[in-house]
Amino acid sequence: MNAIVQTAYGSSDVMEYREVNKPTPGDGQVLVRVMASSLAAGEYFGMRGKPLPIRFYMGLLKPKPGFVVGISFAGVVDSVGGGVTEFRPGDEVYGECHGSCAEFAVADVGPIAPKPRNLTFEQAAAVPTSACTALQALRDHGKVRPGHKVLINGASGGVGTFAVQIAKALGAEVTGVCSTGNVEMVRSLGADHVIDYTKEDFTKGSARYDVILD
Ligand SMILES: NC(=O)c1ccc[n+]([C@@H]2O[C@H](COP(=O)([O-])OP(=O)(O)OC[C@H]3O[C@@H](n4cnc5c(N)ncnc54)[C@H](OP(=O)(O)O)[C@@H]3O)[C@@H](O)[C@H]2O)c1
Repeated sequence: MNAIVQTAYGSSDVMEYREVNKPTPGDGQVLVRVMASSLAAGEYFGMRGKPLPIRFYMGLLKPKPGFVVGISFAGVVDSVGGGVTEFRPGDEVYGECHGSCAEFAVADVGPIAPKPRNLTFEQAAAVPTSACTALQALRDHGKVRPGHKVLINGASGGVGTFAVQIAKALGAEVTGVCSTGNVEMVRSLGADHVIDYTKEDFTKGSARYDVILD
């Protein structure tokens, strides 16, 4: 099968489209035919190998041999490993794994779920890492409740666009912070107030917030 393999740390030139062995699912895993995969800030850090702690996972001087890029994906279950009862071949799923930028990827059943029917594969692949980061931050750590005033710094980014929508769904009054060109987009996601960071520094304002996602 073909995959995007990272051979060194540096610019996007370190990515190579090449043939690798098709993985085999172990117990508690599924083999997924990847239909779409998305990249987030983590892949950018991984590409550069900075900050350095990321190399404990990827490899100290260069990525481990055959390191396939990508975490978030959406696809179709091709086969299942031992003990898997939650999914079967043909199921449309999305979630996280190691090495999603490939024709096939092996995923543990824990971090995957049935793909919502109203999402395309491309839309679904954009959700897992960024949306879960926003969900964990607001629901689990911030404990956002109805009526809370929540500020999302970086509201137009991968995490922020989900965070604005999740905070609204949790019943918060949401303020998004982004640059001029993204003000209307953040408003369209449901933000009650939008601060353009090129014109205003929210840390110097008088407004107070119950939760700030930075
Ligand atoms: N994406 C993930 O899955 C994920 C997971 C875990 C942790 N993180 C961390 O979360 C952070 C954001 O990641 P991301 O993927 O959302 O990045 P991103 O898509 O690049 O978004 C960056 C955001 O920061 C905003 N921004 C840039 N300069 C700013 C400034 N001076 N003041 C306020 N906002 C500013 C950008 O606004 P404009 O574009 O409007 O300028 C944009 O909304 C990163 O530190 C990343 O490491 C991300």
